[in-house]
Amino acid sequence: MEHNRYKVFTYGCQMNESDSLRMGTQLEQLGYKSTENLEDATIILINTCCVRESAEKKIHGKIGEIKNLKRKNPEIILGVVGCMAQKEGEKLFRKAPHIDFVLGTNKIHELNNVINDIKMSRHHMTNLAPDDGGMPQEVLPPTSDALSVWVPITYGCNNFCTYCIVPYVRGREHSRPMSAIIDEVQNYSKTGVKEVTLLGQNVNSYGKELTDTSFAKLLYELDKIDGIERVRYMTSHPRDLSDEVIDVIRNSRHICSHFHLPVQHGSDRILKAMNRGYTIENYRNLIKKVRTAVPDCSLTTDIIVGFPGETDEDFKDMLEFIKEMRYDAAYTFLYSKRSGTPAATMENQVEEKVKKERLNKLMAVQNEISLEINKKLEGSVVEVMVEGPSRTDEAVYTGRTSNNKIVLWEKRGQEQAGDLVQVKINHAQTWVLKGDAIYG
Ligand code: SAH
Ligand code: SF4
Ligand code: F3S
Repeated sequence: MEHNRYKVFTYGCQMNESDSLRMGTQLEQLGYKSTENLEDATIILINTCCVRESAEKKIHGKIGEIKNLKRKNPEIILGVVGCMAQKEGEKLFRKAPHIDFVLGTNKIHELNNVINDIKMSRHHMTNLAPDDGGMPQEVLPPTSDALSVWVPITYGCNNFCTYCIVPYVRGREHSRPMSAIIDEVQNYSKTGVKEVTLLGQNVNSYGKELTDTSFAKLLYELDKIDGIERVRYMTSHPRDLSDEVIDVIRNSRHICSHFHLPVQHGSDRILKAMNRGYTIENYRNLIKKVRTAVPDCSLTTDIIVGFPGETDEDFKDMLEFIKEMRYDAAYTFLYSKRSGTPAATMENQVEEKVKKERLNKLMAVQNEISLEINKKLEGSVVEVMVEGPSRTDEAVYTGRTSNNKIVLWEKRGQEQAGDLVQVKINHAQTWVLKGDAIYG
């Protein structure tokens, strides 16, 4: 039988990647198969992000592109799901009447019901989560034969950083029961999965509303599961990273020695206005603790430039601080005004031109640091989990070290995705390390 086909476009963070795969599982239960060829698809989902304006612009472009396809093939069902869908709701139909349905962030388990209803009635449908969001219902995990999988552990966010839209579109924080997570990972270990990445807006607050449960306990349990070579997680909120978690990681077999601790800014005044809940001194002490406990760890961060009220002085503090921290990498963002958040109505919004100048300076400083740190690895041998051929060259393979460095080498042996190989680094760049695999 000819299968009906679906295609999902995913924007935004890993949580969206994970939701997209889980929506795919549901569609497969309806008898659909995924396709890379858009012309073949009769269900098209756009899983959206609204964390910055730039994401929203891209998504509106994509929604527009589908219009022509639908004109050619009216059978196509177009669903807009995820964070921007949750934020915009019915408004999306006004902008783009060719959308069939809008599904909110905590409603992905309703996907098949909505699709069945649309097939019967062909009416616009919206199904959004209430403000609190509630605990999303469990949906079946992805069925692919991937070696690396995402595992959500918390949904939503209670932090309300003043610049951020996520708590408004993802609802309040809820933790999945530990047993559900452990069962899921145990099942993966039996199907050949080698790496799991635990997901949450603030994984360190996992289990707060459950009894006898914490992120440290969860990591401890997952570390025991045989077959899972690497456990990663994101994102850690610096305010909530406990000594117990650091201790479990230090003594673990499989939890990766990579800490992603978004600092967001280098000035106490701005951190306070951002409602981050820590000072530079708190953060500095935390990093000392982490680096003492896990000396070979890598450290990465997120930073926003151009938050309202950011002065030249604040920006200088930021540059000084990133020089002091010496991050392996920093994900740098231009502040983007999100209406409905407290920062959007703050005075002294920073001019676009100034923001961009500052971002360029920040990136230049950080790139130099990243390169210096990577250069020190030249001549050393690192253990890499093979991911497969690189995008641009079939003969060049790619993988990552435990501390999340991307490594490229020319394949001359039998290594396959999921294997661990030793690679001697001979050329370090800002974002990647190049080397030769050691065989035999
Ligand atoms: N919950 C995670 C990630 C949230 S979104 C965390 O707290 O770390 C990922 C990153 O986007 C954030 O760390 C922040 O640096 C950035 N970000 C969030 N809102 C933004 C905005 N309005 N403008 C620019 N960057 C933003
Ligand atoms: Fe946004 Fe802050 Fe929550 Fe992260 S912790 S999702 S930045 S509100
Ligand atoms: Fe974007 Fe939603 Fe993730 S707004 S960053 S997709 S939680």
